[in-house]
Amino acid sequence: MHNYGSVYLSRYLIAANWKMNGSPALVREMALALSLMKQASLDLAIFPPFPFLSDAVKAFAGVASVGAQHVSEYHEGAFTGEISGSMLKAIGVTAALVGHSERRQLYGETDALAGQRLVNLAKQNIHPILCVGETLVQREEAKVESVIFNQLSALDALSDGNECQTQLTIAYEPVWAIGTGQQASPDQANEVHEFIRRCIRKSYPSFEPGLRVLYGGSVKADNVRPFLQQPSVDGVLVGGASLSVDGFLALCTEALLVD
Ligand code: PGA
Repeated sequence: MHNYGSVYLSRYLIAANWKMNGSPALVREMALALSLMKQASLDLAIFPPFPFLSDAVKAFAGVASVGAQHVSEYHEGAFTGEISGSMLKAIGVTAALVGHSERRQLYGETDALAGQRLVNLAKQNIHPILCVGETLVQREEAKVESVIFNQLSALDALSDGNECQTQLTIAYEPVWAIGTGQQASPDQANEVHEFIRRCIRKSYPSFEPGLRVLYGGSVKADNVRPFLQQPSVDGVLVGGASLSVDGFLALCTEALLVD
């Protein structure tokens, strides 16, 4: 049902980025709650911290994909603290975030590094969610499109080699909307999603048929529907609101109600 290696079966992907939060208990409780929902119309993906990945793969089997929040740009060796794509693959992880704005801002992740990480994931057939988005200053200076265009250049690494894969998810997350309680308006989000689609069509056409574009930034049950109603929004990447079982279930329920 949630096999990223095959075609998408659902209109929407709801992805939960737990960041450095959560616990073994949250893994168990969220998995149980989502399995009791018994829905088959949404693709769900949970991105817990590394230590919980193995348990999460088992707990969410048949309910949600499990993804990592980060992957090394290297394959193996003396890289203390890093985790390789093949290690993720070995424990059943099927997706990974790349280029999240917190990684970019706090850990110096560049577009070139994001490109190498995408290649490593592709080699393991792990589905990437490449995160892009502008800061408030960049928006005020009318640089949204140029910033996103540059961030998408990480995809050059994939189209250059043999690692080309057909399915790709991009998460548009305006930096000023992450964890701030502020959101882009649904129209603003749709406009940027359209731009992302145009870039992919023009520069990376092999990804176009399998492309999903998610919106992220302070999404919760109360505001998710207008985003999902936009024609170019294929789902959401949720941080804070994915840490409460009730809140996340409410959000998924809202998503199920979108026409
Ligand atoms: P938020 O985080 O929903 O807490 O704003 C989203 C994200 O950073 O992926």
